Amino acid sequence: MCGIVGYIGHREAYPLIIKGLKRLEYRGYDSAGVVLYDGTDLKLSKTKGKVSDLEERAVKEISLNGSIGIGHTRWATHGVPNDVNSHPHLSNSGNLVIVHNGIIENYEPLKKELIKRGYVFKSDTDTEVLINLIEDVQKKDNLKLGKAVQVALNQVVGAYAICVFDKQKPDEIVVARLGSPLAIGLGKDEFFIASDASPFIEYTSNAIYLEDEEMAIVRLNKPMKVRKIKDDSLVDPYVQELQMNLEQIEKGGYDHFMMKEIYEQPNVIRDTYRGRLHANEGIVRMAGVEDNIEKFTNAQRILIIACGTSWHAGLVAEYIFEEFARIPVEVEYASEFRYRNPIISDKDVVIAISQSGETADTLAAIKLAKEKGAFVFGVCNVVGSSISRESHAGAYTHAGPEIGVASTKAFTTQITVLTMIALRLAKIKGTLSNSEYHRYLLELETIPEKVKEALETNEISKQIASVYKDAPNCLYLGRGYNFPVALEGALKLKEISYIHAEGYPAAEMKHGPIALIDEQMPVVVIAPKQGHYDKVVSNIQEIKSRSGKIIAVVTKGDEQVRALADHVIEIPETSDALSPLLTTIPLQLLSYHIAVMRGCNVDQPRNLAKSVTVE
Ligand code: F6R
Repeated sequence: MCGIVGYIGHREAYPLIIKGLKRLEYRGYDSAGVVLYDGTDLKLSKTKGKVSDLEERAVKEISLNGSIGIGHTRWATHGVPNDVNSHPHLSNSGNLVIVHNGIIENYEPLKKELIKRGYVFKSDTDTEVLINLIEDVQKKDNLKLGKAVQVALNQVVGAYAICVFDKQKPDEIVVARLGSPLAIGLGKDEFFIASDASPFIEYTSNAIYLEDEEMAIVRLNKPMKVRKIKDDSLVDPYVQELQMNLEQIEKGGYDHFMMKEIYEQPNVIRDTYRGRLHANEGIVRMAGVEDNIEKFTNAQRILIIACGTSWHAGLVAEYIFEEFARIPVEVEYASEFRYRNPIISDKDVVIAISQSGETADTLAAIKLAKEKGAFVFGVCNVVGSSISRESHAGAYTHAGPEIGVASTKAFTTQITVLTMIALRLAKIKGTLSNSEYHRYLLELETIPEKVKEALETNEISKQIASVYKDAPNCLYLGRGYNFPVALEGALKLKEISYIHAEGYPAAEMKHGPIALIDEQMPVVVIAPKQGHYDKVVSNIQEIKSRSGKIIAVVTKGDEQVRALADHVIEIPETSDALSPLLTTIPLQLLSYHIAVMRGCNVDQPRNLAKSVTVE
């Protein structure tokens, strides 16, 4: 969490940093700050609130000149979000300044030691400890900044991506990474530093992504050097050509990124299977799977690890893998998996699902699985992300940047990738008949068009939203493949509208949640024709007889449920296994409209951040 931006070169740094921070606000938006060196001194402005609050403040508070600067948008870990705890942080001398994304776990003993040595602290942050540690090291041994950063980082336990500079030497920025991402954009006589490449894509298409335990000193008019923090060895960094473009990270006429991303789903699902799925020829292939095909076909078990929405995609995949490929699957929250003593062997395939590829718990779970000998396959969206690099192999979802904090297109593209893997394994293992296999390939190819049709439910979703926008609670029910969709629908509603919502397997309702049902309770039931339709209809009747308000997501033309429900949302017909790709669409729209009507910040819900890089 937290976004950092740095610039050194020949342009004015301030506008570039502010624009960059806005693009990184998905990473955290509790507070923001910027520091510039204007040729005479450091000019620092920081505030609780969003980058727009910082802009208002900075223009009154500091001169905005300078072609070196660093900025930060924060998701608070240590210390409440207030002005003082906001980054950048200065060292006691006022010479050094830092922005930091991550957590210094051993900051307390370090702080105690520094206090003994006469340092004073203004904030409650671990970051202020780090910058003073760097200063202390620098002073003690009269070290250059880069060396001092390196020595200090070797004393630190935790995670970080940092940018540091010294006002006495304002022609270099020192950057380092462990556990939190950091990209360096390479321009002509200029460098851009950021948590991801979005802040600088209009300036350069060449970037270096620092690896864990690497640091770099970016200097004006000097070649950049990348080193290992531990042993000081030089690294030859890989210069990546960026594929992102500006249009992808702008709202494109929509009011919110979330809505833009919901509407992108037909296209991005197509992008996900493009070149991999050739339905007419009966082929589905992904390089990462083909290169490791025996690992998959010999797997005694597939273990899926993920968090949040990605975990829900994993649950859908559990049903799909077991049905198509007859391989036992377990799905685990990464945060639980890593802290028990899981039984894993080299016969297990671990699939780690992550949009950002930076989720700390998922990353740690992968490392544990690897230590125990499992083969790890990553399903990530962000190219070059930590999880994609840490995995033995993987497949990207190709959904493009997802900026709205609530995940939408990541979910459907993850399911698309996982479905393709399951189909490939089914083909090799002969666990689906030829006709079933071909039917699924052809059906998967039709999904983008059907998602487009499902998006036509926007108006009806909006009307339903206006009826229930003030409800304090909401239940979501589904069975089989659509039980995870119920969980996902509830998560979408609660995270962006702050309405309490729960998802259940529909049949579980009578084991407790049914007690909640009265005439005030909206219940969203996912009831497509395929699957356990009759059973779900019985569940709908149980809700109706207790006066619950029923919002049903049904297959087009379903008159039986229409006669029972208060509202129906019709989606196109598809097979049971692929139905989550369609049923989830109206649930995304419903949450979106409810949140907008309640005046919530849809793209930046309170307390959340897009990539959860702390455990
Ligand atoms: C919900 C949401 C989160 C993420 C979770 C995992 O809308 O976005 O629940 O799904 O934090 O993130 P990734 O997929 O980046 O590992």
